[in-house]
Amino acid sequence: MYYGGDYNPEQWPEPVWLEDARLMREAGVNLVSLGIFAWARLEPAEGEYDFAWLDRVMEILHGHDIGIDLATATASPPPWLTMSYPDSRPVTADGVPLSQGSRQHFAATSPDYRRLAVALAGTLGERYATHPAVRMWHVNNEYACAVHADHSDHAVAAFRRWLEARYGTVAALNEAWGTDFWAQRYGSFAEVVTPRRTPSSPNPSAVLDFRRFTSDSYLELYLAERDALRAAGARQPITTNFMGLFPPLDYWRWAQEVDVVADDCYPDPRDPESFRTAALARDLMRSLRPGQPWLLMEQASNAVQWRPNNRAKAPGQLAALSEQAVARGADGILFFQWRQSRAGSEKFHSAMLPHAGTETRTWREVVALGSSLAGRPAPEPVRGQVAIVLDWENSWALDQPNLPGTVDHAAVITDWYLALHRRHVQVSFVRPTDDLAGFAVVVAPALHLLTGAGAANLATWVAGGGTLVTTAYTDLVDEHDRFRDGGFATQLREVLGGHPVDFDGLLPSDGVSVTLGDAGPLPAGVVLEDFVLTTGTVAAIVDGPAVSGSPALVRNVHGDGTSWHLTTFLDAEGNGQVLDLVLPAAGVTPVLPGLPPEVEAIEGRERITVVNQSPQAHTVLLPDGERRLAPYEVVHLVRRAQS
Ligand code: GAL
Repeated sequence: MYYGGDYNPEQWPEPVWLEDARLMREAGVNLVSLGIFAWARLEPAEGEYDFAWLDRVMEILHGHDIGIDLATATASPPPWLTMSYPDSRPVTADGVPLSQGSRQHFAATSPDYRRLAVALAGTLGERYATHPAVRMWHVNNEYACAVHADHSDHAVAAFRRWLEARYGTVAALNEAWGTDFWAQRYGSFAEVVTPRRTPSSPNPSAVLDFRRFTSDSYLELYLAERDALRAAGARQPITTNFMGLFPPLDYWRWAQEVDVVADDCYPDPRDPESFRTAALARDLMRSLRPGQPWLLMEQASNAVQWRPNNRAKAPGQLAALSEQAVARGADGILFFQWRQSRAGSEKFHSAMLPHAGTETRTWREVVALGSSLAGRPAPEPVRGQVAIVLDWENSWALDQPNLPGTVDHAAVITDWYLALHRRHVQVSFVRPTDDLAGFAVVVAPALHLLTGAGAANLATWVAGGGTLVTTAYTDLVDEHDRFRDGGFATQLREVLGGHPVDFDGLLPSDGVSVTLGDAGPLPAGVVLEDFVLTTGTVAAIVDGPAVSGSPALVRNVHGDGTSWHLTTFLDAEGNGQVLDLVLPAAGVTPVLPGLPPEVEAIEGRERITVVNQSPQAHTVLLPDGERRLAPYEVVHLVRRAQS
């Protein structure tokens, strides 16, 4: 089990480094991510490297038996780079180049930035590949976090090359993008630009491809650095840090290219439900490379500084959130950062070692957590009975204007996860084309862009006995964001037992609701489908002006399986009412029965971890008897190993 955090010794004079190492030992730290923002110190002028200070830091760490996740230091280019190569900066959709003086001010496609980043990574690789303290390599940092898209001239040129490789001919591009709409026909690839600010809506197919390109261009940059490390002889695992459901990057593709999945996660202590969205991120990380442990690469020991108002973690909450990560497969719990900065925009961000020193609650909790994690075996979470389908390309197609009702796809996914989590059902994430064998229920929220392969996979799985849950915006467009011939849900209509023929946008003020079970009217939103039934039967109807009586939930038997299609969107509460029908019928059971929603139970092969994620005590019935759980208390229940 790794324990530690980002370590930025370049912000401190040398005598502090020794004290750091001593206190790291005291806290149980055995891994630090070193030098993530140290480029200006490592290469003070182009081609002039200074590794002497880093040698000394690494020697001190090694002398204290602290492992190093060595950064390639490329996340923040030094001022000399920006001054020498001003066109290496990213440009907004409005044509504004982003300035130095902060961080991440690089264009992923800038040849000069890339050349210099790869050179630094390779030089670090050559120097430290055989250093005995180096356990891992940390490439760049949170790709795209601050720059979701780049419209520089380099990006435009790279986008054209990307399109040419994808489509071959401009005729194929015109066909894919439907460019006869609004006279957008291109005569050559050289006429295409990135979707910069336009007077009216840009072409949605172009935007979809631009988002694919953006994820790919950052990935290409990561690969260039990774390959430079390998070429220099690095044999340790290489990774970079993900950010949960982060929209700009397709982490399914990225996960194939890192040796270890790593995540940064900052649940808001003010939000009593944020432990559930943190759980979502952990389940996603576990799912990206199934069967392999992942790292919680960054979390805050206490408050962050970047929200408008930053609540502190409650006493015990740090351990509770860390344990939910371990139970979901993390074999490392790391922080941003080791020692609180004394200058810069993050000086109020908590750290393992607070600016106020060791006489602090934060330090005591950090030390206690380190000692409780020390020597733990690698966790082995189980996959669970329910999967949620997540496909970034689908999200990119949906997160656009000009739909019957605008939808935030990440919020839709989250609302289904929250409902499952409150019911103590363990969830995995899958792609539409993944092998679904072994899942009892698959929830595919707003699977709007659905490829032939994805549709065939889902249909075969349902016919074989699976239970599929879908919502409005299912199977409406192809991979180019175009309607398919023949109407809507053309691929899944037999599975769904019907198909939509029209759409009615819904706002809360429209007063449309769905009644299910005994929960009272559940507000419906975004859109309501005019759904034509074929073999499906109506399990619930809509209530509201002009739409009363139309199908809200349609159940259909398909082969040996069942589908449940919701013709609208409900919130997490409403989704829960749907699940209360679906889950028992599909034989899905909670990890432990009878727990309050604030107490989570995570199932592993060897043990079940029970965590009270609330500031209130709860008396619960566990398999070994009744127990009073103090606020944020964690209990590990040993279970017999399953095959
Ligand atoms: C992360 C970033 C860290 C630090 C942290 C503060 O996004 O990777 O460098 O800024 O946020 O919460």
